[in-house]
Amino acid sequence: MVGVESLRGRDLLSIADLNRNELTALIDLSLKMKELYYKGFRNLNILNGKVLALIFEKHSTRTRVSLQVAIHQLGGTSLYLSSQELQLARGEPIKDTARVLERYVDGIAARVYKHKSLVELAEHAQIPVINALSDVEHPLQAIADVMTIIELKKDIRKLKIAFFGDGADNVLHSLMLAVAMLGGALYIATAPGYDPNPEIFKKAKEYASESGGQIFIVRDPIEAAKDADVIYTDVWVSMGQESEREKRIRDLSRYQVNSEIVSYAKKDYIFMHCLPAKRGEEVTDEVIESRNSAVWIQAENRLHSAKAVLASILG
Ligand code: CP
Ligand code: NVA
Repeated sequence: MVGVESLRGRDLLSIADLNRNELTALIDLSLKMKELYYKGFRNLNILNGKVLALIFEKHSTRTRVSLQVAIHQLGGTSLYLSSQELQLARGEPIKDTARVLERYVDGIAARVYKHKSLVELAEHAQIPVINALSDVEHPLQAIADVMTIIELKKDIRKLKIAFFGDGADNVLHSLMLAVAMLGGALYIATAPGYDPNPEIFKKAKEYASESGGQIFIVRDPIEAAKDADVIYTDVWVSMGQESEREKRIRDLSRYQVNSEIVSYAKKDYIFMHCLPAKRGEEVTDEVIESRNSAVWIQAENRLHSAKAVLASILG
């Protein structure tokens, strides 16, 4: 099996680095990887001898483990590098780190506080750089998310997807671009002062006008929840925003996903969350543990989609 040809050697910092055909092909390949996995073909020798370095400035469970297991199952290997243990923490510039690492490894996945660190890394490293989450985007999550939506709900163009909470959330930004590119309808229920990054929103609107998709920002959570096929939320306090905790909880509490909100959705709606979740804040225990919750399938799909991304970029 081969990956998506046009992605070989490229960076993936944003969903906007992909065109619609590439995103669709990545989703197809992710679903194929999952099918193969369940047929017993977990280990594929596509990336023999390839090494992926993971530079993490923040905590991670799913992204780190799915990337490390993915490259292992593709025949390659990985190096986990906490930024605290690199000379980066002692002030070595990102551009120097980039020019050294490119001489040892075949690709870098990085989780950073500031998106511009990723841009700098990508600019100076001649090898592919993959965004493993920044303050602006989380493209690996969005690829797994649209894969999950298509796996469980088929034609995304016929769906109403509703996101509740922080409208400037990194996971939402990537989801917004992906849903808009694929022609779905996304309702973002958020408070004033928490609207999406204007540039990303504008780009998503452009994608939507090409694909027949729709993006709306609404203040009323019930309007977003009404007849929704997918109900999605993420934490109100992302990594790096801890000092704003009290204010954010106060401002966003109206957007909690609870039994009342989901009662407005379609009966067979699915609940999604990138995880980790803060039960009792953005979502109640009842909803995340309900029969409609797709969060474990969504988390599993991080592995299958990571395999598709790595096979395509490093293949
Ligand atoms: N969803 C996600 O990226 O989880 P981690 O922070 O555990 O990687
Ligand atoms: N918005 C969250 C996502 C974690 C996967 C954060 O940035 O902390």
